[in-house]
Amino acid sequence: MSSSTVITNIATLVTNDPSLADSSPLGLIQDAAVVIDGDRVAWTGESSKAPATDNRVDAGGRAVLPGFVDSHSHLVFAGDRTQEFNARMSGRAYSAGGIRTTVAATRAASDAELEVNLTRYLDEALRQGTTTFETKSGYGLTVADESRALRIAAAHTDEVTYLGAHIVSPDYADDPAAYVALVTGEMLDACAPHARWIDVFCEKGAFDGDQARAILSAGKAKGLHPRIHANQLSYGPGVQLAVELDAASADHCTHLTDADVDALASGRTVATLLPGAEFSTRAQWPDARRLLDAGVTVALSTDCNPGSSFTSSVPFCVALAVRDMGMTPDEAVWSATAGGAAALRRDDVGRIAPGARADLILLDAPSHVHLAYRPGVPLVSGVWRRGERAV
Ligand code: NIG
Ligand code: FE
Repeated sequence: MSSSTVITNIATLVTNDPSLADSSPLGLIQDAAVVIDGDRVAWTGESSKAPATDNRVDAGGRAVLPGFVDSHSHLVFAGDRTQEFNARMSGRAYSAGGIRTTVAATRAASDAELEVNLTRYLDEALRQGTTTFETKSGYGLTVADESRALRIAAAHTDEVTYLGAHIVSPDYADDPAAYVALVTGEMLDACAPHARWIDVFCEKGAFDGDQARAILSAGKAKGLHPRIHANQLSYGPGVQLAVELDAASADHCTHLTDADVDALASGRTVATLLPGAEFSTRAQWPDARRLLDAGVTVALSTDCNPGSSFTSSVPFCVALAVRDMGMTPDEAVWSATAGGAAALRRDDVGRIAPGARADLILLDAPSHVHLAYRPGVPLVSGVWRRGERAV
């Protein structure tokens, strides 16, 4: 029999429950309580009306919000890129080519080393409130190295993405078409059983629109759902291709034309913004305000990877999005929770409502606004994952 717990005395509860009519998309309840039964949320409401349960936790006038849903990371890798970061901070530009450094280190690592590295970053993310995460291959670029990356990732999350098309493998530098044939053929066959998603880095120096369409279409034919690295470093075809293929998400969206924004507003594809990448590459910020005003669904994620965004902290990304991308604190918190869930086409996470998975964050602050108001401060003081206290 599962046991039930009530968390009472919550100053601000973020539910993301649209049926709670208030002026915020967050479905806020003040002076609230949440009941967890087993791995699910059983009840939310005013603290004074909470039903009796087996256990009781006093939130002490703090805020509770849904666990963060980080829908974009690259955590199966070895080595780091400190020198490249140093060079960039001395004025060098970021380019897709740096990925090759991590490919070499990752190929040289054992399975055990890759798994230790992955779990280290997952623990780090959990302590900062991430309870659902997606992660990708893309630093192997051979049949064996891509499939082992996915196998290792799949032991830790259901949201695994095949990114054999991260860059053209250095082994195929003279014959990119042959690499695309490998990615859509033998490599796809080996990888599809371990993955839910297929991704491609559609960018100058990586894959063009025609190659990206061929790769994502081949993945779809094998039962994988598309998502795309699109319009990060320059304007390009990625965003409109994402909408055309009904990709769950177009990620980065830094350089957008009006036609790109219109396409996103007309389809189901979520725009996932990754401010850690612009921070760490000293690049122009994506314009979240423009997307939100056009009616686009926006998610916020870390893009945690050793090259362009070496942060596992969703709170850091929330603070950047509010300070520099035109989002309100409410919008940024929604995008990092319900938005991330939408980018993974999930409705069991990213909200606190009866039936949802009991993934909750207790903040050492009276409201979620403090995530942006107190940047860099470790406010996450408790995490429940699937109903179990994890932090
Ligand atoms: O999302 N854009 C492509 N992939 C990563 C960067 C990977 C790297 O530089 O190692 C990104 O920014
Ligand atoms: Fe990425």
